[in-house]
Amino acid sequence: MRVGVAREIKQQEYRVALTPAGARELVKRGHEVLVERTAGVGSAFPDEAYERAGATIVSVDDVWARSDLLLKVKEPIAPEYPRLREGLTLFTYLHIAADEPLTQALVESGITAIAYETVETDHGALPLLAPMSEIAGRLAPQAGADHLEKPKGGRGILLGGVAGVAPARVLILGGGMVGYNAAVIALGMGAQVTILERSVERMRFLEQILSGRVQLLMSSSLQLEEAIKDADLTIGAVLIPGALAPKLVTRELLETMKAGSVFVDVAIDQGGCAETSKPTTHDDPVYIVEDVIHYCVANMPGAVPITSTRALTNVTLPYVEQLADNGATGAVAANSELARGVNVIGGKLTYAAVAEAHGMDYTPLRDALAAGVA
Ligand SMILES: NC(=O)c1ccc[n+]([C@@H]2O[C@H](COP(=O)([O-])OP(=O)(O)OC[C@H]3O[C@@H](n4cnc5c(N)ncnc54)[C@H](O)[C@@H]3O)[C@@H](O)[C@H]2O)c1
Repeated sequence: MRVGVAREIKQQEYRVALTPAGARELVKRGHEVLVERTAGVGSAFPDEAYERAGATIVSVDDVWARSDLLLKVKEPIAPEYPRLREGLTLFTYLHIAADEPLTQALVESGITAIAYETVETDHGALPLLAPMSEIAGRLAPQAGADHLEKPKGGRGILLGGVAGVAPARVLILGGGMVGYNAAVIALGMGAQVTILERSVERMRFLEQILSGRVQLLMSSSLQLEEAIKDADLTIGAVLIPGALAPKLVTRELLETMKAGSVFVDVAIDQGGCAETSKPTTHDDPVYIVEDVIHYCVANMPGAVPITSTRALTNVTLPYVEQLADNGATGAVAANSELARGVNVIGGKLTYAAVAEAHGMDYTPLRDALAAGVA
């Protein structure tokens, strides 16, 4: 199969969907790999590294026109819509429930579109989203520590303190993938860490792996009220799958927080867990409400493309290999995780939540495949 790797053209996106190591694996399996010129440069992979791995460097027109399977990181944007076509399988983050024009373009083009974010295990885990949560979680204390410095407008407290001076207090709302990783880094920086979580089972797990080094408390509005007024850095990391984040931090509660404290709302991509949260960008990451510095960057992993690209491709490559070896229809028939990733195939919308979001017709994947649409 001919596997293409497109260069990302979305602003401030430096990741690439395949590393030279991944290219070499595909070439070894007998596939042809086409990489768009300079696709890997933002992640510190020059074209020559792909060539050494056996890939061919091609133009943007060639990578879209000649590939059977095209790998990307972000969803296609409007200038790329005319390149969508029948016979092409696209494997990338899509998030089309929030993007009607792209949904229409995918359906009209006849392409097969498989979304990283809806690839799902039989236990409901989202393996292609998890590494981005790990990264965002690990970045959160780093960003928080930076903005706690006085010249950045913060309280002027060092996360780890020093001998004889108390460390800063870090409060983490939600102890899932983001929360756990935030705790690991905050602990490593010497902070005093509290996690509020609402799942007892998850707290037992955190208790075991963090061996009593963090304070684990059942999440309730009273507990939050008590903990948040003492926090120097609060990290929002709650998730209710498929729903907007609960607004745990009300404006009233914000007024009780220390002046110059920092609130990093990682859950901003689900609307954020404070009433005062609104998305920001790496260019202009913070704003202040009630003397609390809000950091609400919606694509935190974008700040560290060298790490993010490797973390992403580590988890996507096994699926890419299956798609390349068996073709899209063969691979999704054999692998239920990949099947859940299929959003659009042969002009049919095969992901119920997306169809519902846009009031469009939904066709179960089984029916679409039986009709031979691909
Ligand atoms: N901003 C970014 O760049 C970025 C990057 C990656 C992930 N995220 C977002 O971060 C959020 C967390 O992701 P995750 O992978 O850690 O999810 P996760 O499902 O692993 O963890 C969420 C945790 O929140 C807990 N929770 C739910 N309601 C709660 C409440 N009221 N109080 C306390 N805990 C509660 C759940 O029990 C769960 O343990 C998601 O919204 C995700 O989309 C953002």
